[in-house]
Amino acid sequence: MLVVHRRSEIRDWSGRARRAGERIGLVPTMGALHAGHTSLVPVAREGGAERVVMSIFVNPLQFGPREDFDRYPRDLDRDLEVASAAEVDVVFAPTREEMYPSGEPIVRVVPTAGADRLCGRSRPGHFEGVLTVVAKLFGITLPDVAVFGQKDYQQLVLIRRMVTDLDFPVDVLAGPIVREADGLAMSSRNRYLSPSERSHALALSAALRECQEMFERGERDVAAYVRRLHEAGGPGVSVEYGEVVDPQTLQPALQVEAGTVCAIAAHVGATRLIDNHILGTPLAF
Ligand code: PAJ
Repeated sequence: MLVVHRRSEIRDWSGRARRAGERIGLVPTMGALHAGHTSLVPVAREGGAERVVMSIFVNPLQFGPREDFDRYPRDLDRDLEVASAAEVDVVFAPTREEMYPSGEPIVRVVPTAGADRLCGRSRPGHFEGVLTVVAKLFGITLPDVAVFGQKDYQQLVLIRRMVTDLDFPVDVLAGPIVREADGLAMSSRNRYLSPSERSHALALSAALRECQEMFERGERDVAAYVRRLHEAGGPGVSVEYGEVVDPQTLQPALQVEAGTVCAIAAHVGATRLIDNHILGTPLAF
């Protein structure tokens, strides 16, 4: 596996692959890699990528001033082992200066709808930071396909929307949420949890599982789902939002049907966790 730190190096590599007729897949990450991240690599391959680039960059632009940018877990040596085992071809791990040589970019990708709700409500500017760095990563690696996890559902929707609205020649593919055996959605932030917080955190996936069971029982009342999501709150768990939304617009769903998304965010101690479920799809735990 090749490891590069400079934009020029990944550009050269990508140019060579392209001239050899190979399709390039991109899997953007912020590192602290887990099975949720590595699950996206085969999705890129199934989507036709003969070469897969994984980027590892903790993007300062998407963190708020009181968020965990400084303490976000960084361990490149371990990440390289995980990426190599996942058969990534190249890791692109730039420094902050390499990505933002002139400091904060003055031209950015700003979503004008869909970014002020759900996670955007408590994280103003977050999705602008995400879309701007993803647009840069597309410009640097020139991928044919790019893969994102359904775990960050709002991010996935906004990236798809960016690619459509700005005509990026990239196929965006989604990978399903990878969970621990007990249901907890894998996240780099799970390592912040103490053992008791780790067990409290199961309230999120448990609520989503119950939503899926309600759907299977024929429940179609939006309010019943919203109520159940909020019931995830309790000792040690403070629900930030529990919403039932349209899968494309992210607006509150007017009716519950297959494909409707249940989304939840909660603070478990000092750690903010998110999870979601597309009703009518399997929930494997
Ligand atoms: P990060 O949180 O590191 O996640 C990188 C990718 O892995 C995202 O597409 C995310 O949805 C996916 N992912 C994370 N946990 C997952 C899980 N349990 N199952 C499936 N996929 C999972 O998301 C970001 O980084 C950043 O915002 C980024 C897109 C890299 C831009 O900086």
